[in-house]
Parts: sequence; structure tokens; C-alpha cells
Amino acid sequence: MDQKKIITVFGATGAQGGGLAKAILLDANSEFSVRAVTRDVNSDKAKELSAMGAEVVAGDIDDTNSIKKLLEGAYGAFFVTFFWAHYSAEKEYQEVTNFVSAAKDAGLQHIIWSTLEDTRNWVPLEDNRMPTLQGKYKVPHFDGKGFADNLFTEAGLPVTFLRTSFYWDNFIYFGMGPKKGEDGKYYITLPMDDKKLAAIAADDIGKCAYGIFKKGNKLIGKTIGVAGEKLSGQEMAEKLSSALGVEVNYNNVSPETFRGFGFPGADDLGNMFQFKRDFNEEYNGIRDIAFAKELDPQLKNFDQWLAVNAAKIPLN
Ligand SMILES: NC(=O)c1ccc[n+]([C@@H]2O[C@H](COP(=O)([O-])OP(=O)(O)OC[C@H]3O[C@@H](n4cnc5c(N)ncnc54)[C@H](OP(=O)(O)O)[C@@H]3O)[C@@H](O)[C@H]2O)c1
Repeated sequence: MDQKKIITVFGATGAQGGGLAKAILLDANSEFSVRAVTRDVNSDKAKELSAMGAEVVAGDIDDTNSIKKLLEGAYGAFFVTFFWAHYSAEKEYQEVTNFVSAAKDAGLQHIIWSTLEDTRNWVPLEDNRMPTLQGKYKVPHFDGKGFADNLFTEAGLPVTFLRTSFYWDNFIYFGMGPKKGEDGKYYITLPMDDKKLAAIAADDIGKCAYGIFKKGNKLIGKTIGVAGEKLSGQEMAEKLSSALGVEVNYNNVSPETFRGFGFPGADDLGNMFQFKRDFNEEYNGIRDIAFAKELDPQLKNFDQWLAVNAAKIPLN
């Protein structure tokens, strides 16, 4: 009989949950086993996890009863929500409510909640430096998560709050890669002035989560911020240039300009970068590279991430 402690991993076929699931599955001596949650147990990614030894189960975070079943007999759970699947902070908050209500009687010993700051603690709604979005948020995909932190505390759940960072993978999958300007040169566009952006390889978030679970109850009740490196737009452009073999420049625009780009979520991301720029010391301060490295000894810096991923960055 398998005596390993079960971790129920939400988003197991995605970036963060996938990083955690694979970190556990690739560690032959792990004290944990993986219950990988997906809406489609027949997808290629689900089958890959199954072949690696995961128990792959169907579930949906919009259904509290389904979450309850997924937590039965588990030691721990990794909770992550998927803002960009619906763009709604209200829905995201409801999804965290579902997690918490399902976890209340589940007897879990350790939960990791993948969260971000409620930026309204720094930029109240009446602060006009950035527009209020979705009626009562400044950075909807941050605020809904941060506001939900309290739900875990109020329910008395054994939780570690994991504050994640910008994924470098956004240069590949999120439309943030270098774009060709009218002058034929490539540009990355960020409204960050010369401030440094705390960022990480997306799979390292899951590996850090594994490090947190491995520390037992030591980090319960704590907020842990992780990053792989903190670089300015200029520094990232230089490293991209070396890795891609083309000249990449940093196009520093105002947050207003960024919000006006018009793609879905541009206003949310414009506010987010402005928050990271204007509260740079506090935002970067809580994201501790040295501690992330202790949790994930293979933690990558940007050059190491580029060495593996540069070829996947679309140049257009
Ligand atoms: N991009 C960034 O730079 C960044 C940085 C920090 C934090 N974040 C946050 O990261 C979160 C997303 O995490 P991620 O990047 O790991 O996600 P992801 O890679 O997009 O993966 C999401 C996975 O979750 C599953 N999923 C989607 N909707 C679901 C539902 N209703 N119920 C159950 N499973 C569902 C999907 O799997 P199936 O199709 O197999 O069900 C999918 O593979 C977002 O909330 C975002 O705000 C992003």
C-alpha cells in the first residue's frame, strides 16, 4: 500500500501546479504522492502526469463538491486560481471561497495558496494615479487573490501564502515577447522606468511550493514571496539580445500608454506594472531570491531560463 502523503494539486496540467506535480513525481524518494486535478483526464498533459505516477482525477474549482472529493484523504493541497480564464476578480474570489469551504472539514495538514498582493492596501480606490477597474479593484488579478487571503485565516486553516512573481514564460506564451518596431529593431515594452521586475521561471514556483511542503509545518501561517531574479527592462533586453542573437531594446512607456494598448487585460496589467514600479521596494522586498533558492536549489536566473527557453520565444 502506498504510504506516501497525498498532495492534491490544482492546475496540475498548467504552469504552477505542473511545476509542483513534476517536482514531486521526479523525486523518487519523496514522502509525497500527487493527486493531479484536471478537467480532462484524457488530455496529453494529464496522460503524461499519469505516466509519471500521478493519480489523475477530474475536478473543477467552480464546483465545491468536486473539490471536497478531491481533498478526501489528502495530507496537503496546492490551491491556485486561473484569472486569465475569465478575467473576473469576483469569480476568482468565489473560487477561493469554494476552496476554503471544501477544505474546512477535510482535515488537511498543509495548504499552499498561490496568491498576490491586494494592491488596494497601497493604492486605495480613491487614489487616482490609476483607474479603478471592475467597480472596486485596482489590479483585479492581484486584488481578488490578496483579498481572499483572509478567508483561510478566518477558517483557521493551516496555510502558507505563496506570493508568486511575473513569469519569464510570458515572453513565450502571454504575448509579451519582443516585437519588431517600424525601425526593424525588436522591443520589449514595459511601463517600469528603470525599476527592477521581480520575475521567475513559472515551473520554479511549483518547485518552491514543493520546498515549502518539505519543510513540514515550519512555514504554516507565513507569507513566502519567491523570485528567480530582479532585473530592469534594460537588463532583460540586453540578456534577450544575447540569447536571441538579435538586438532587443527596452521600450519604456507610461502606464497610461500601456493601459491603452487595448488587448484584453491591458488595463489590469498597466495598473499592475505601475504598482510594481511605484511600490518597487516593498513588492521586490518580500520576494526573497535566497530563500527561494533554499526551497528550490535548482532555481533559475534569467540567463539560465533563457538557455533552455530562448528558442521558444516568438519574434514577430
Ligand atoms: N503569468 C504570470 O506572469 C503570472 C504570475 C503570477 C501569478 N499568475 C497567476 O497564475 C494563475 C494561473 O496559474 P498557472 O499559470 O499555473 O495556470 P495555467 O498554466 O494557465 O494552467 C491552468 C490549468 O488549470 C486548469 N484549469 C483551468 N480552469 C480550471 C477550472 N475551472 N477547474 C480546474 N482546473 C482548471 C487547466 O487544466 P485542464 O485544462 O487540464 O483542466 C490548466 O492547465 C493566474 O491566476 C495568474 O493570475 C500569473
